[in-house]
Amino acid sequence: TFVVTENCIKCKYTDCVEVCPVDCFHEGPNFLVIDPEECIDCTLCEPECPVEAIYPEDDLPADQQEFLELNAELSLQWPVITEMKAAPDDAKQWEDVPDKRKLLER
Ligand code: SF4
Ligand code: F3S
Repeated sequence: TFVVTENCIKCKYTDCVEVCPVDCFHEGPNFLVIDPEECIDCTLCEPECPVEAIYPEDDLPADQQEFLELNAELSLQWPVITEMKAAPDDAKQWEDVPDKRKLLER
């Protein structure tokens, strides 16, 4: 499966959702996740993210491992998103800010 990681938090650009052939992105208040049960590893979403927040499971950075479980858990709770929408007004200033994990809203 592919995994959405920390850099998506508070950026949420949503470019990724438009290309997914199986509609497996789910949207929360300030983050998106991929449903690992639905993802077919097509790789299309990975290059779409402007902040490079999407990784294949096997290439997840060591400090992002917890996002594997978070994607699985939150995809069961959040609704599917298939169309791009406007990013938060302050998205730009949150790009590449370290330690955003604590800001994740559920
Ligand atoms: Fe969707 Fe393909 Fe990305 Fe999986 S790898 S989330 S199937 S676009
Ligand atoms: Fe997040 Fe990147 Fe998609 S910021 S919403 S993973 S395009």
